[in-house]
Amino acid sequence: MEAKELKEKVGQVLQKYQHDKSVLVDILHDIQAESGYLPREVLEETSHALDVPLSRVYSVATFFKAFSLEPRGRHLINVCTGTACHVRGAAKVREKIEQELGIKTGETTSDLKFTLETVNCVGACALGPMVIIGEDYHGEMTPDAVGPVLENYN
Ligand code: FES
Repeated sequence: MEAKELKEKVGQVLQKYQHDKSVLVDILHDIQAESGYLPREVLEETSHALDVPLSRVYSVATFFKAFSLEPRGRHLINVCTGTACHVRGAAKVREKIEQELGIKTGETTSDLKFTLETVNCVGACALGPMVIIGEDYHGEMTPDAVGPVLENYN
């Protein structure tokens, strides 16, 4: 997104919330929904427009896992690393995903297709290892299944 476009989006969101600094989390949430992540310029613009110190905006943006200061992939992959999934081989599945995508956990592929993260138990332990891609739950994952599953996403 272009800088000008980004600035406009931030302006629209701020207007929607009537520049109410007490709802900073909601504001950042809406801005991220528009821009996919929270670039530095957005945080600066928000800080300036709301008259809130930049350090405060940064601390909110980095406190919540839902916010990202880096561009994110179109598909978020979450590998469950809870105990049940771990004993069923989640580590090997995660390694295979890292290998296939050429990234480490916490990173995004350069084509912005995938972001890889881990999550702690999604309540489907009997079907572990669980891998969640976007809204899709993939149970009983194996390293061999990783390639074919990833191919379904574009
Ligand atoms: S430990 Fe993975 S779903 Fe519960």
